[in-house]
Amino acid sequence: MEEILKILPQHTCSWLKDKVTLYKYQDFWAVKQLLEGGILAQQTFRAAPSDIFLCSFPKTGTTWVKSLAFAIVTREKYDESTNPLLTSLVHECVPFLERDIEKIDDNHKNSNFPLVATHLPYASLPESVLASNCKIVYIYRNTKDVIVSLYHFLREALKLSMEDAPFEDAFDEFCQGICSSGPYWDHILGYWKASLERPERILFLKYEDLKRDPASNAKRLAEFIGYPFSLDEEKAGVVDNIINMCSFENLSNLEVNKTGTRKPGAIENRLYFRKAKDGDWKNYFTDEMKEKIDKLMDEKLSGTGLVL
Ligand code: A3P
Repeated sequence: MEEILKILPQHTCSWLKDKVTLYKYQDFWAVKQLLEGGILAQQTFRAAPSDIFLCSFPKTGTTWVKSLAFAIVTREKYDESTNPLLTSLVHECVPFLERDIEKIDDNHKNSNFPLVATHLPYASLPESVLASNCKIVYIYRNTKDVIVSLYHFLREALKLSMEDAPFEDAFDEFCQGICSSGPYWDHILGYWKASLERPERILFLKYEDLKRDPASNAKRLAEFIGYPFSLDEEKAGVVDNIINMCSFENLSNLEVNKTGTRKPGAIENRLYFRKAKDGDWKNYFTDEMKEKIDKLMDEKLSGTGLVL
C-alpha cells in the first residue's frame, strides 16, 4: 500500500494547519486512511446481490440517509424503543466500505443485513459492485451548504478555531476540487451518468427535498431498496415514527450523539450533528464567493438538470 501512496500526487491542507494530507488516486482526493480502505475494498470486496449501497460525498446527508435506511430495513426487528440508533452512532450501525470491510464480509456470511455506505466515487467502486445489480442510493446537497458543513466538521475535528482555519482558504481549495472525495462535481456527475444508463439501479435523493417532504422521500427510499411500506403500516404511523426517530432534533439530542465517541481518539459523535439548516452558507459567503461557486457548479453540471 505504501508503494502505491508514495507515487500519488499529494496536497497538504494549509488552512488546516498542515494537519491533513490528501492523496489523488483515480481522479479523486482522499485522506490516507480512507484511501487505503478504498483500495483494499477495490482489491478484495465481493458484492452480494442483496447489498444496498448508500453513496454520498461527505456532508451531503450521509448520516440522515443511513439512519432512515437502517430504520426502514430493521423495522420488523426493532420498535421505536429498542432501535440501536437510539444508543449507537448510526455510523456504527451501517458499515462503511472504506473502514469496515470485515464487518461487511461477516454480514454477508452471517446475516442478511444489506446496507453498505461509501464515499467512493462511482468509477472507483469495487469492480464487483459495478458489475452487480445492487441498488445504489445517492444523496446530494446544495454545494454552498456542503462547503460550510465540511469546513466546520474538519475544523472542529482538528480542534481549530475559526481564526486558525480561514474559511476563505477552505473555500478556495474546494473550488479547486481539493477535498476528501472531491471534486464534488465529479462525484455527483459519476453517479448521475450511471443513473442515466441504469435508472432502475440508482436513486438520487436531494437533502433539501428530504427536508421539505420527508414522508414521500422516505417512502420512495423504502420502495426503491425493496422494503416498501404497506398501507397498514402507513395507517399505523410507521413512516412517521421512522421519520421522527431519524430526525435531526431526535438524533442530535440523544446522549450517545451528544457526548459519545466511537473509540478513544476518534471524531466525537456530536460533530456529525451540527445545525442541519438549509442556507447556513449565507452566514459565511461573500457575494463574490457565491458568484464563483454558482458559476463553477453551473458549468460543471450543465445539461444534467441538477440544481444545487
Ligand atoms: P450541517 O453541518 O449543515 O449542520 P453527513 O452526514 O454527510 O456527514 O452530513 C452532515 C450534515 O448533515 C450536517 O449538516 C448535519 O448537521 C446534518 N445532519 C445530520 N443528521 C441529520 C438528520 N438526521 N437530519 C438532517 N440533517 C442531518
